[in-house]
Amino acid sequence: MLVINLSVGTEKRGHLSVDEPTINLGLEGIYFTKSEVCKLDGINGRLYYRGYPIETLSKNSNFEEVCYLLLYGKLPNEEEFNIFASALKSESELPEQVISIIKDMSNKAHPMDTLRTAVSALSAYDNDVPDSSIDANMRKSVRLIAKTCSIVATIGRFRNGESYIRSKPNLSFAGNFLYMLNGSRQSQQNEKILDIMLMLHAEHSSNASTFSTLVAGATLSDIHAAVTSGIATLKGPLHGGADEAALAMMRAIGRPDNTEEYIESALEGKKRIMGFGHRVYKTYDPRARIIKVYLESMQDSSSEEVRNLTSIALRAEKLMVDKLGKTKGIWPNVDFFSGPVYTALGIPGYLFTPLFAVSRMPGWCAHMIEYWKSNRLIRPLEYYSGPIDLEYIPMENRS
Ligand code: CMC
Repeated sequence: MLVINLSVGTEKRGHLSVDEPTINLGLEGIYFTKSEVCKLDGINGRLYYRGYPIETLSKNSNFEEVCYLLLYGKLPNEEEFNIFASALKSESELPEQVISIIKDMSNKAHPMDTLRTAVSALSAYDNDVPDSSIDANMRKSVRLIAKTCSIVATIGRFRNGESYIRSKPNLSFAGNFLYMLNGSRQSQQNEKILDIMLMLHAEHSSNASTFSTLVAGATLSDIHAAVTSGIATLKGPLHGGADEAALAMMRAIGRPDNTEEYIESALEGKKRIMGFGHRVYKTYDPRARIIKVYLESMQDSSSEEVRNLTSIALRAEKLMVDKLGKTKGIWPNVDFFSGPVYTALGIPGYLFTPLFAVSRMPGWCAHMIEYWKSNRLIRPLEYYSGPIDLEYIPMENRS
Protein backbone atom coordinates (compact mmCIF):
# COMPACT_ATOMS: atom_id res chain seq x y z
CA MET A 1 0.00 0.00 0.00
CA LEU A 2 1.23 3.46 -0.84
CA VAL A 3 1.19 5.87 2.09
CA ILE A 4 1.74 9.56 1.64
CA ASN A 5 2.69 11.67 4.63
CA LEU A 6 2.37 15.40 4.50
CA SER A 7 4.15 17.24 7.28
CA VAL A 8 2.28 20.44 8.13
CA GLY A 9 4.06 23.78 8.06
CA THR A 10 4.12 25.83 11.28
CA GLU A 11 2.10 29.01 10.91
CA LYS A 12 3.51 32.25 12.27
CA ARG A 13 1.96 35.69 12.22
CA GLY A 14 2.61 37.42 8.86
CA HIS A 15 4.23 34.49 7.10
CA LEU A 16 4.44 30.71 6.94
CA SER A 17 7.52 28.80 7.99
CA VAL A 18 9.70 27.06 5.40
CA ASP A 19 8.51 23.72 6.78
CA GLU A 20 6.54 22.82 3.64
CA PRO A 21 4.93 19.49 2.80
CA THR A 22 6.05 17.59 -0.28
CA ILE A 23 4.07 18.96 -3.18
CA ASN A 24 3.50 16.85 -6.30
CA LEU A 25 2.68 19.45 -8.93
CA GLY A 26 0.01 18.15 -11.29
CA LEU A 27 -0.48 15.23 -8.84
CA GLU A 28 2.42 13.57 -10.68
CA GLY A 29 3.18 10.08 -9.37
CA ILE A 30 0.19 10.05 -6.97
CA TYR A 31 -2.14 7.06 -6.72
CA PHE A 32 -5.64 8.19 -5.73
CA THR A 33 -7.70 5.04 -6.28
CA LYS A 34 -7.63 1.41 -7.41
CA SER A 35 -9.20 0.40 -10.71
CA GLU A 36 -9.77 -2.75 -12.76
CA VAL A 37 -10.62 -0.89 -15.95
CA CYS A 38 -7.20 -0.24 -17.45
CA LYS A 39 -3.52 -0.92 -16.89
CA LEU A 40 -1.01 1.50 -18.35
CA ASP A 41 2.62 0.40 -18.10
CA GLY A 42 4.54 3.56 -18.93
CA ILE A 43 7.98 1.98 -18.63
CA ASN A 44 7.41 -0.87 -21.05
CA GLY A 45 4.88 0.94 -23.25
CA ARG A 46 2.01 -1.50 -22.65
CA LEU A 47 -1.70 -0.79 -22.41
CA TYR A 48 -4.45 -3.19 -21.33
CA TYR A 49 -8.23 -2.75 -21.22
CA ARG A 50 -9.67 -5.05 -18.53
CA GLY A 51 -6.55 -7.21 -18.89
CA TYR A 52 -6.57 -7.47 -22.71
CA PRO A 53 -3.56 -5.97 -24.52
CA ILE A 54 -4.46 -3.09 -26.83
CA GLU A 55 -2.64 -4.84 -29.69
CA THR A 56 -4.95 -7.88 -29.35
CA LEU A 57 -8.10 -5.79 -29.14
CA SER A 58 -7.25 -3.51 -32.06
CA LYS A 59 -6.51 -6.57 -34.20
CA ASN A 60 -9.47 -8.77 -33.26
CA SER A 61 -12.23 -6.71 -31.69
CA ASN A 62 -14.42 -3.76 -32.64
CA PHE A 63 -15.49 -0.56 -30.88
CA GLU A 64 -18.90 -1.88 -29.81
CA GLU A 65 -17.29 -4.91 -28.16
CA VAL A 66 -14.64 -2.74 -26.49
CA CYS A 67 -17.42 -0.52 -25.05
CA TYR A 68 -19.09 -3.62 -23.61
CA LEU A 69 -15.78 -4.88 -22.24
CA LEU A 70 -15.01 -1.58 -20.53
CA LEU A 71 -18.49 -1.18 -19.04
CA TYR A 72 -19.17 -4.79 -17.99
CA GLY A 73 -15.60 -5.99 -17.33
CA LYS A 74 -15.81 -9.02 -19.64
CA LEU A 75 -16.12 -9.83 -23.34
CA PRO A 76 -19.74 -10.37 -24.40
CA ASN A 77 -21.08 -13.64 -25.79
CA GLU A 78 -22.88 -13.40 -29.13
CA GLU A 79 -26.31 -12.70 -27.64
CA GLU A 80 -24.95 -10.07 -25.24
CA PHE A 81 -23.05 -8.43 -28.08
CA ASN A 82 -26.09 -8.28 -30.37
CA ILE A 83 -28.30 -6.77 -27.65
CA PHE A 84 -25.63 -4.21 -26.75
CA ALA A 85 -24.83 -3.26 -30.37
CA SER A 86 -28.51 -2.81 -31.21
CA ALA A 87 -29.03 -0.68 -28.08
CA LEU A 88 -26.20 1.60 -29.30
CA LYS A 89 -27.99 1.89 -32.65
CA SER A 90 -31.43 2.53 -31.22
CA GLU A 91 -30.10 5.21 -28.85
CA SER A 92 -28.32 7.20 -31.58
CA GLU A 93 -31.27 9.53 -32.27
CA LEU A 94 -30.91 13.10 -30.93
CA PRO A 95 -33.71 15.15 -29.33
CA GLU A 96 -34.89 17.96 -31.64
CA GLN A 97 -33.89 20.55 -29.03
CA VAL A 98 -30.31 19.25 -28.93
CA ILE A 99 -30.13 19.36 -32.73
CA SER A 100 -31.24 23.03 -32.51
CA ILE A 101 -28.51 23.80 -29.94
CA ILE A 102 -25.88 22.24 -32.20
CA LYS A 103 -27.18 24.16 -35.21
CA ASP A 104 -27.18 27.44 -33.34
CA MET A 105 -23.65 27.00 -31.98
CA SER A 106 -22.02 25.35 -34.98
CA ASN A 107 -20.51 28.36 -36.67
CA LYS A 108 -19.92 30.39 -33.51
CA ALA A 109 -18.08 28.04 -31.16
CA HIS A 110 -15.25 25.52 -31.27
CA PRO A 111 -16.78 22.06 -31.90
CA MET A 112 -15.56 20.97 -28.44
CA ASP A 113 -17.64 23.76 -26.87
CA THR A 114 -20.66 22.75 -28.93
CA LEU A 115 -20.12 19.11 -27.95
CA ARG A 116 -19.78 19.98 -24.25
CA THR A 117 -23.01 22.01 -24.33
CA ALA A 118 -24.95 19.42 -26.34
CA VAL A 119 -23.90 16.51 -24.10
CA SER A 120 -24.81 18.53 -21.02
CA ALA A 121 -28.21 19.33 -22.60
CA LEU A 122 -28.91 15.62 -23.13
CA SER A 123 -29.62 15.37 -19.40
CA ALA A 124 -32.85 17.33 -19.91
CA TYR A 125 -34.19 14.57 -22.17
CA ASP A 126 -33.05 11.49 -20.23
CA ASN A 127 -35.66 10.18 -17.79
CA ASP A 128 -33.02 8.16 -15.94
CA VAL A 129 -31.09 11.21 -14.72
CA PRO A 130 -32.37 11.08 -11.09
CA ASP A 131 -31.79 7.29 -10.90
CA SER A 132 -28.25 6.58 -9.68
CA SER A 133 -28.52 2.77 -9.69
CA ILE A 134 -25.90 0.80 -11.61
CA ASP A 135 -28.52 -0.37 -14.12
CA ALA A 136 -29.62 3.20 -14.80
CA ASN A 137 -26.02 4.36 -15.15
CA MET A 138 -25.38 1.56 -17.66
CA ARG A 139 -28.42 2.67 -19.67
CA LYS A 140 -27.27 6.29 -19.52
CA SER A 141 -23.76 5.26 -20.60
CA VAL A 142 -25.09 3.49 -23.69
CA ARG A 143 -27.13 6.59 -24.56
CA LEU A 144 -24.16 8.88 -23.99
CA ILE A 145 -21.86 6.78 -26.21
CA ALA A 146 -24.46 6.57 -29.00
CA LYS A 147 -25.62 10.19 -28.86
CA THR A 148 -22.13 11.69 -28.55
CA CYS A 149 -21.29 10.02 -31.86
CA SER A 150 -24.40 11.52 -33.48
CA ILE A 151 -23.66 14.94 -31.97
CA VAL A 152 -20.13 15.03 -33.39
CA ALA A 153 -21.22 13.90 -36.86
CA THR A 154 -24.01 16.52 -36.75
CA ILE A 155 -21.57 19.27 -35.72
CA GLY A 156 -19.56 18.36 -38.82
CA ARG A 157 -22.64 18.46 -41.05
CA PHE A 158 -23.86 21.82 -39.79
CA ARG A 159 -20.40 23.35 -40.14
CA ASN A 160 -20.50 22.20 -43.74
CA GLY A 161 -23.91 23.80 -44.29
CA GLU A 162 -25.65 20.42 -44.46
CA SER A 163 -28.60 19.01 -42.52
CA TYR A 164 -28.91 16.38 -39.77
CA ILE A 165 -29.30 12.81 -40.97
CA ARG A 166 -30.32 9.74 -39.00
CA SER A 167 -28.08 6.73 -38.52
CA LYS A 168 -28.58 3.55 -40.54
CA PRO A 169 -29.38 0.37 -38.57
CA ASN A 170 -27.29 -1.91 -40.82
CA LEU A 171 -24.03 -0.03 -40.21
CA SER A 172 -21.44 -0.45 -37.47
CA PHE A 173 -20.74 2.33 -34.95
CA ALA A 174 -17.74 3.54 -36.99
CA GLY A 175 -19.65 3.11 -40.26
CA ASN A 176 -22.51 5.19 -38.90
CA PHE A 177 -20.22 8.01 -37.81
CA LEU A 178 -18.79 8.27 -41.34
CA TYR A 179 -22.26 7.91 -42.87
CA MET A 180 -23.82 10.59 -40.66
CA LEU A 181 -20.90 12.93 -41.33
CA ASN A 182 -20.75 12.45 -45.10
CA GLY A 183 -24.34 11.55 -46.00
CA SER A 184 -23.20 8.41 -47.81
CA ARG A 185 -21.61 5.11 -46.87
CA GLN A 186 -17.80 5.12 -46.93
CA SER A 187 -15.52 2.26 -47.92
CA GLN A 188 -15.29 -0.77 -45.63
CA GLN A 189 -11.56 -0.13 -45.29
CA ASN A 190 -12.21 3.40 -43.99
CA GLU A 191 -14.86 2.10 -41.60
CA LYS A 192 -12.41 -0.48 -40.27
CA ILE A 193 -9.62 2.06 -39.79
CA LEU A 194 -11.96 4.41 -37.92
CA ASP A 195 -13.13 1.46 -35.81
CA ILE A 196 -9.49 0.80 -34.84
CA MET A 197 -8.92 4.48 -34.02
CA LEU A 198 -12.01 4.44 -31.79
CA MET A 199 -10.74 1.35 -29.95
CA LEU A 200 -7.28 2.85 -29.45
CA HIS A 201 -8.73 6.00 -27.85
CA ALA A 202 -11.44 4.31 -25.78
CA GLU A 203 -9.66 4.26 -22.44
CA HIS A 204 -6.46 5.40 -20.80
CA SER A 205 -6.52 5.06 -17.01
CA SER A 206 -6.47 8.22 -14.88
CA ASN A 207 -5.70 10.73 -17.63
CA ALA A 208 -6.78 14.34 -17.02
CA SER A 209 -10.29 14.05 -18.49
CA THR A 210 -11.06 10.78 -16.69
CA PHE A 211 -9.79 12.26 -13.44
CA SER A 212 -11.96 15.33 -13.89
CA THR A 213 -14.94 13.07 -14.71
CA LEU A 214 -14.35 11.32 -11.38
CA VAL A 215 -13.88 14.58 -9.46
CA ALA A 216 -17.27 15.83 -10.74
CA GLY A 217 -19.02 12.48 -10.21
CA ALA A 218 -17.52 11.86 -6.76
CA THR A 219 -19.58 14.77 -5.44
CA LEU A 220 -22.57 12.49 -6.28
CA SER A 221 -23.71 14.76 -9.09
CA ASP A 222 -24.60 12.43 -12.00
CA ILE A 223 -23.07 10.82 -15.06
CA HIS A 224 -24.06 13.63 -17.46
CA ALA A 225 -22.39 16.20 -15.19
CA ALA A 226 -19.33 13.98 -14.83
CA VAL A 227 -18.71 13.36 -18.54
CA THR A 228 -19.42 17.01 -19.36
CA SER A 229 -16.49 17.80 -17.07
CA GLY A 230 -14.46 15.18 -18.93
CA ILE A 231 -15.22 16.80 -22.29
CA ALA A 232 -14.24 20.23 -20.95
CA THR A 233 -10.92 18.80 -19.77
CA LEU A 234 -10.20 16.92 -22.97
CA LYS A 235 -10.29 20.12 -25.02
CA GLY A 236 -6.87 21.48 -24.04
CA PRO A 237 -3.82 21.00 -26.30
CA LEU A 238 -1.85 19.28 -23.54
CA HIS A 239 -4.50 16.53 -23.62
CA GLY A 240 -6.98 15.68 -26.40
CA GLY A 241 -6.52 18.94 -28.28
CA ALA A 242 -3.00 17.82 -29.23
CA ASP A 243 -4.27 15.88 -32.27
CA GLU A 244 -5.71 18.99 -33.93
CA ALA A 245 -2.62 21.00 -32.93
CA ALA A 246 -0.26 18.33 -34.34
CA LEU A 247 -2.05 18.41 -37.70
CA ALA A 248 -1.94 22.23 -37.69
CA MET A 249 1.83 21.98 -37.17
CA MET A 250 2.23 19.52 -40.07
CA ARG A 251 0.21 21.88 -42.27
CA ALA A 252 2.40 24.80 -41.14
CA ILE A 253 5.51 22.79 -42.08
CA GLY A 254 3.95 22.53 -45.55
CA ARG A 255 6.59 20.50 -47.44
CA PRO A 256 8.47 17.43 -46.19
CA ASP A 257 11.82 19.12 -46.86
CA ASN A 258 10.92 21.86 -44.36
CA THR A 259 10.37 19.40 -41.52
CA GLU A 260 13.80 19.27 -39.87
CA GLU A 261 14.35 23.03 -39.96
CA TYR A 262 10.88 23.69 -38.54
CA ILE A 263 11.26 21.21 -35.67
CA GLU A 264 14.84 22.29 -34.84
CA SER A 265 13.82 25.92 -34.69
CA ALA A 266 10.69 25.15 -32.61
CA LEU A 267 12.81 23.22 -30.12
CA GLU A 268 15.41 25.99 -29.99
CA GLY A 269 12.55 28.39 -29.20
CA LYS A 270 11.54 26.05 -26.32
CA LYS A 271 8.25 25.24 -28.05
CA ARG A 272 6.50 21.94 -27.46
CA ILE A 273 5.98 19.66 -30.40
CA MET A 274 2.36 18.53 -30.16
CA GLY A 275 1.82 14.77 -30.27
CA PHE A 276 5.05 14.05 -28.38
CA GLY A 277 5.70 13.37 -24.72
CA HIS A 278 3.53 11.86 -22.03
CA ARG A 279 3.21 12.10 -18.26
CA VAL A 280 3.25 8.30 -17.85
CA TYR A 281 4.83 6.79 -20.98
CA LYS A 282 8.57 7.29 -21.00
CA THR A 283 8.80 5.16 -24.11
CA TYR A 284 6.90 4.84 -27.39
CA ASP A 285 3.12 5.07 -26.83
CA PRO A 286 1.83 1.63 -27.96
CA ARG A 287 -1.20 3.31 -29.58
CA ALA A 288 1.05 5.54 -31.69
CA ARG A 289 2.98 2.45 -32.81
CA ILE A 290 -0.24 0.83 -34.06
CA ILE A 291 -1.50 4.00 -35.76
CA LYS A 292 1.86 4.47 -37.50
CA VAL A 293 1.58 1.00 -39.07
CA TYR A 294 -1.90 1.81 -40.44
CA LEU A 295 -0.74 5.18 -41.70
CA GLU A 296 2.16 3.61 -43.58
CA SER A 297 -0.15 0.95 -45.04
CA MET A 298 -2.55 3.64 -46.31
CA GLN A 299 0.13 5.78 -47.91
CA ASP A 300 -0.01 4.39 -51.46
CA SER A 301 -3.78 4.65 -51.81
CA SER A 302 -3.98 8.13 -50.24
CA SER A 303 -4.38 11.59 -51.74
CA GLU A 304 -1.37 13.81 -52.38
CA GLU A 305 -2.24 15.85 -49.27
CA VAL A 306 -2.20 12.76 -47.03
CA ARG A 307 1.04 11.47 -48.59
CA ASN A 308 2.60 14.85 -47.92
CA LEU A 309 1.37 14.92 -44.30
CA THR A 310 2.56 11.34 -43.78
CA SER A 311 5.98 12.14 -45.09
CA ILE A 312 6.22 15.19 -42.78
CA ALA A 313 5.00 13.11 -39.83
CA LEU A 314 7.54 10.34 -40.43
CA ARG A 315 10.45 12.79 -40.80
CA ALA A 316 9.37 14.69 -37.67
CA GLU A 317 9.08 11.44 -35.75
CA LYS A 318 12.59 10.32 -36.77
CA LEU A 319 14.12 13.62 -35.74
CA MET A 320 12.27 13.80 -32.41
CA VAL A 321 13.11 10.19 -31.52
CA ASP A 322 16.79 10.77 -32.33
CA LYS A 323 16.92 14.05 -30.43
CA LEU A 324 14.60 13.58 -27.48
CA GLY A 325 13.46 9.94 -27.35
CA LYS A 326 16.36 8.18 -25.75
CA THR A 327 17.76 11.24 -23.96
CA LYS A 328 14.60 12.76 -22.43
CA GLY A 329 11.97 10.04 -22.78
CA ILE A 330 9.89 12.12 -25.18
CA TRP A 331 8.32 9.83 -27.76
CA PRO A 332 5.34 10.05 -30.12
CA ASN A 333 1.97 9.73 -28.36
CA VAL A 334 -1.44 8.70 -29.68
CA ASP A 335 -2.14 12.19 -31.01
CA PHE A 336 0.80 12.45 -33.40
CA PHE A 337 -0.11 10.14 -36.29
CA SER A 338 -3.87 10.51 -35.83
CA GLY A 339 -4.10 13.69 -37.94
CA PRO A 340 -2.94 12.21 -41.24
CA VAL A 341 -5.09 9.09 -40.64
CA TYR A 342 -8.23 11.12 -39.95
CA THR A 343 -7.45 13.35 -42.93
CA ALA A 344 -7.24 10.23 -45.10
CA LEU A 345 -10.71 9.29 -43.81
CA GLY A 346 -12.03 12.73 -44.82
CA ILE A 347 -12.52 13.91 -41.22
CA PRO A 348 -11.74 17.63 -40.80
CA GLY A 349 -9.19 18.77 -38.17
CA TYR A 350 -11.79 20.58 -36.05
CA LEU A 351 -13.54 17.25 -35.42
CA PHE A 352 -10.45 15.36 -34.21
CA THR A 353 -10.81 16.21 -30.52
CA PRO A 354 -14.62 15.79 -30.55
CA LEU A 355 -14.04 12.37 -32.13
CA PHE A 356 -11.56 11.62 -29.33
CA ALA A 357 -14.45 12.37 -26.92
CA VAL A 358 -16.70 9.92 -28.79
CA SER A 359 -14.13 7.17 -28.32
CA ARG A 360 -13.29 8.07 -24.70
CA MET A 361 -16.94 8.13 -23.58
CA PRO A 362 -17.00 4.39 -22.64
CA GLY A 363 -13.77 4.85 -20.65
CA TRP A 364 -15.19 7.82 -18.72
CA CYS A 365 -18.45 5.97 -18.01
CA ALA A 366 -16.74 2.71 -17.00
CA HIS A 367 -14.46 4.54 -14.57
CA MET A 368 -17.32 6.57 -13.12
CA ILE A 369 -19.54 3.54 -12.51
CA GLU A 370 -16.60 1.68 -10.93
CA TYR A 371 -15.65 4.63 -8.72
CA TRP A 372 -19.22 5.08 -7.42
CA LYS A 373 -19.12 1.53 -6.04
CA SER A 374 -16.85 2.79 -3.24
CA ASN A 375 -17.27 6.52 -3.69
CA ARG A 376 -15.14 9.00 -1.80
CA LEU A 377 -15.18 12.75 -2.39
CA ILE A 378 -11.96 13.82 -4.16
CA ARG A 379 -10.57 16.73 -2.23
CA PRO A 380 -6.77 17.10 -2.16
CA LEU A 381 -4.89 19.75 -0.21
CA GLU A 382 -3.08 22.82 -1.39
CA TYR A 383 -0.32 24.39 0.65
CA TYR A 384 -1.05 28.07 1.24
CA SER A 385 2.09 30.08 0.53
CA GLY A 386 0.78 33.66 0.84
CA PRO A 387 0.76 36.05 3.79
CA ILE A 388 -1.69 35.74 6.72
CA ASP A 389 -3.28 38.00 9.34
CA LEU A 390 -3.01 41.08 7.13
CA GLU A 391 -4.35 44.35 8.47
CA TYR A 392 -7.59 45.50 6.74
CA ILE A 393 -7.07 49.09 5.46
CA PRO A 394 -10.25 51.06 4.62
CA MET A 395 -10.49 51.92 0.91
CA GLU A 396 -10.03 55.67 1.43
CA ASN A 397 -6.68 55.01 3.11
CA ARG A 398 -5.29 52.70 0.41
CA SER A 399 -2.69 54.05 -1.97
N1 CMC B 1 7.99 18.81 -27.11
C1 CMC B 1 9.16 19.30 -26.65
N2 CMC B 1 9.55 19.17 -25.36
C2 CMC B 1 8.73 18.52 -24.53
C3 CMC B 1 7.50 17.98 -24.96
C4 CMC B 1 7.15 18.15 -26.31
N3 CMC B 1 5.99 17.68 -26.78
N4 CMC B 1 6.90 17.39 -23.92
C5 CMC B 1 7.69 17.54 -22.86
N5 CMC B 1 8.80 18.23 -23.22
C6 CMC B 1 9.93 18.60 -22.37
C7 CMC B 1 9.57 19.77 -21.47
O1 CMC B 1 9.83 20.99 -22.11
C8 CMC B 1 10.44 19.50 -20.28
O2 CMC B 1 11.76 19.90 -20.61
P1 CMC B 1 12.74 20.50 -19.49
O3 CMC B 1 12.93 19.39 -18.50
O4 CMC B 1 13.97 20.84 -20.25
O5 CMC B 1 12.03 21.68 -18.91
C9 CMC B 1 10.44 17.98 -20.16
O6 CMC B 1 10.15 17.51 -21.47
C10 CMC B 1 9.38 17.45 -19.22
O7 CMC B 1 8.16 18.04 -19.55
P2 CMC B 1 6.95 18.17 -18.54
O8 CMC B 1 6.06 19.28 -18.99
O9 CMC B 1 7.44 18.23 -17.13
O10 CMC B 1 6.25 16.80 -18.70
P3 CMC B 1 4.76 16.51 -18.35
O11 CMC B 1 4.71 15.14 -17.82
O12 CMC B 1 4.12 17.55 -17.51
O13 CMC B 1 4.13 16.61 -19.80
C11 CMC B 1 2.74 16.51 -21.62
C12 CMC B 1 3.32 15.73 -20.44
C13 CMC B 1 1.85 15.55 -22.42
C14 CMC B 1 1.86 17.64 -21.10
C15 CMC B 1 3.88 17.06 -22.49
O14 CMC B 1 4.69 16.02 -22.96
C16 CMC B 1 3.37 17.91 -23.65
O15 CMC B 1 3.09 19.09 -23.48
N6 CMC B 1 3.22 17.28 -24.87
C17 CMC B 1 2.64 17.98 -25.98
C18 CMC B 1 1.12 17.89 -25.91
C19 CMC B 1 0.61 16.51 -26.24
O16 CMC B 1 1.04 15.89 -27.19
N7 CMC B 1 -0.39 16.05 -25.46
C20 CMC B 1 -1.03 14.77 -25.67
C21 CMC B 1 -0.73 13.80 -24.57
S1 CMC B 1 -1.16 12.10 -24.96
C22 CMC B 1 -2.81 12.04 -25.36
C23 CMC B 1 -3.71 12.53 -24.31
O17 CMC B 1 -3.69 12.08 -23.17
O18 CMC B 1 -4.50 13.43 -24.62
